[in-house]
Amino acid sequence: MKHFLSTSDWSHEDLESLLQVAGELKQNPMNSTLKGRSIALLFLNPSMRTRTSFDLGMQQLGGIAIVLQPGRDAWGLEFDAGAIMEGDAEEHIAEAAGVLSRYCDLIGLRAFPSFVDWSKDREDKLIKSLAHYSSVPVINMETIVHPCQELAMMLTLKERMGVVSKRKMVLTWTWHPRPLNTAVANSALLMGTKFGMDVTLLCPEPAYLLDPQFMHTAKNNAAASGGSLQVSHDIQSAYSGADFVYAKSWGALPYYGEPEKEYELRKKYRHFIVNEEKMALTNNGLFSHCLPLRRNVKATDGVMDAPYCLAVDEAENRLHVQKALMMKLLGADQ
Ligand code: CP
Repeated sequence: MKHFLSTSDWSHEDLESLLQVAGELKQNPMNSTLKGRSIALLFLNPSMRTRTSFDLGMQQLGGIAIVLQPGRDAWGLEFDAGAIMEGDAEEHIAEAAGVLSRYCDLIGLRAFPSFVDWSKDREDKLIKSLAHYSSVPVINMETIVHPCQELAMMLTLKERMGVVSKRKMVLTWTWHPRPLNTAVANSALLMGTKFGMDVTLLCPEPAYLLDPQFMHTAKNNAAASGGSLQVSHDIQSAYSGADFVYAKSWGALPYYGEPEKEYELRKKYRHFIVNEEKMALTNNGLFSHCLPLRRNVKATDGVMDAPYCLAVDEAENRLHVQKALMMKLLGADQ
């Protein structure tokens, strides 16, 4: 049984095939290939795009989605094997996954890291635990990676660029008042390199490098795809000649769990905002962001309202790629 926990587990060919089906579904959105099928969507954290696009997408394919928020409108969940459950959680993922697998054909999970101990969070144990106990395919709706966002980013780029290989992609850290999840940055790095892009990771200083497991996989991806990966701390040279700028803010991993200390580091870097002057250095480059985005903090109004901004297109494409994904996981894509 195949899950969708990370694009690292999927071949380039399989991902290309998903994007092909997604493009076809965008032209013909309604069908009944998943009539009678269902997905349980477990949200441990807030969402607008992910929740709406999965729920609507399943309905457009003839199926239904059940949205559950453990700890709010469903029992709080324990994910650790062998835990003595004397805390707040009333139910173990072993039973929850077992029961939902009897009811539903797919299970999605959003489980952001705890922001306490990166050495634990980097193992992505919650989604792995769900996949272990589930007898139906599991979809990652954002943990320490956000593979559905990766698919949407790449579909959007292919629509606008055609061929993406050897195009310069700048993944830029941006200012934000507090440290955020690295998931989208990890994912953008993985996807750009997997599809042969020349990726520059731009961040203010080495403390903002992504976890070595993602840097390492991205390097391997680039070696296999004919793309490249480099790190820059220089705004001018990184933006220069870029075909695509992808923005995200994330926390410095050496200060994980210490937001006050991290703030002392990050407060120097407000100038990492994406603005029209920086975009003017690019090769008529495109811009995108996963959303939500704080305007005039991460990117200016001028950038967000420019014709080169693809953020809303990318958000729309979440719907199409996730429909293709659900069909693929349920063998309905033939
Ligand atoms: N990009 C994204 O996942 O949006 P939501 O958090 O609103 O789902």
